[in-house]
Amino acid sequence: MLTPEQNATLTQTGKGTPCGELMRRYWQPVALSSEIPPGSRSPIPVTILGEELVLFRDTADRLGLIELHCQHRGADLSYGFIDACGLRCLYHSWAYAIDGRCTDQPGITAGTFKDHIRAAAYPCVDIGGVVLAYLGPGEPSVIPRYGFSDVPAENRLLRKVLLDCNYLQSNEGNIDPHHVAFLHGQPGTEAFNADLSPRMTVEPTSHGVRITTVRNLPGDREYVRHSNFIMPNLSSFTSDSYIEDGFTIHWHVPITDTSHWKYLISFQRSAPLATPDDWMIEVDEFYRLRRNRANRYLQDRTQAGGRVTAGMGTNFQAHDAFATETQGYIQNRTREHLTAMDVAITQSRKCLFNAIDAVAAGRDPQHVLRPPSDGIVDDLITDSAIVTAGALR
Ligand code: FES
Ligand SMILES: [Fe+2]
Repeated sequence: MLTPEQNATLTQTGKGTPCGELMRRYWQPVALSSEIPPGSRSPIPVTILGEELVLFRDTADRLGLIELHCQHRGADLSYGFIDACGLRCLYHSWAYAIDGRCTDQPGITAGTFKDHIRAAAYPCVDIGGVVLAYLGPGEPSVIPRYGFSDVPAENRLLRKVLLDCNYLQSNEGNIDPHHVAFLHGQPGTEAFNADLSPRMTVEPTSHGVRITTVRNLPGDREYVRHSNFIMPNLSSFTSDSYIEDGFTIHWHVPITDTSHWKYLISFQRSAPLATPDDWMIEVDEFYRLRRNRANRYLQDRTQAGGRVTAGMGTNFQAHDAFATETQGYIQNRTREHLTAMDVAITQSRKCLFNAIDAVAAGRDPQHVLRPPSDGIVDDLITDSAIVTAGALR
């Protein structure tokens, strides 16, 4: 349970808020690379951490991320077009370079002042199929390498969905292994269903929290999983049904404080990954879930009940959207009652509060990497296995 002030501290991410300043110390996804591939001349609007921005490629294919609203009289630059001067506004044709400089003010006869105009601009890179941006002050930190950027493109599966709630409750869902047997219980999750009281331990790591979950299985065996909370808004875990030797990251990137993008980044080292059959059934071309708050997740009560199925199809995304969106646009954590099964959530909040304090004190927060780091996160262990009981103790 949190106080109202603590809940606000962890959930408000606008510029100048404690958590907003924390989030801005880390590279954050702003788009899938497929949304703005090399050669694209179609800028896209990006709202992140409450800031309205536009992402574009100039004629040299360099990425720019600048303020959405034109410095002249505020028109939306994502409707603009690309030419040799950069991104040009549709309204009166002012143009902007990727660093936010105004490069042209055509038709102004009584003296231009373009050299005094500068839109806010943020560095961004296209890496591993994801466009990452750094919105913080000072020198950008080293980009962590979680593994997906080190495999061939065909070994990655990159997706995203829009969620209509604060980022934190969704990330807390990822580090709550206990819910899987209940909310997602269906054919294919037998190893989770076999033991409803798993033994769960957490330990601090350089990146956040490692969660070890051990479930008893019939025949003197155990199902052991290591998943992680990664500072400040992502998590990693295995996806046994379709990934052999890699894992999945869920990265919850605030749009505003009441909506966010969930980036789903999966990879395996040894073989290509295919999009699961039910993905396009569940998600439309605008990355919106077809089952959503407005239609009560199309719950089919003839299919629902017990621990068999939620009655919301077989894809976990709709189940998790139900779980997190119905907590409220911002969950009221003054009214929660955490149990021993929520230990990873408690630990992750401690990491966030400590990191917020570090930023306020002028220090780098946990998991902000600096040279000579090459970005590799040595203690990120994400795996799962069925073993003989006690073999890993
Ligand atoms: S509003 Fe963009 S050029 Fe006038
Ligand atoms: Fe889930």
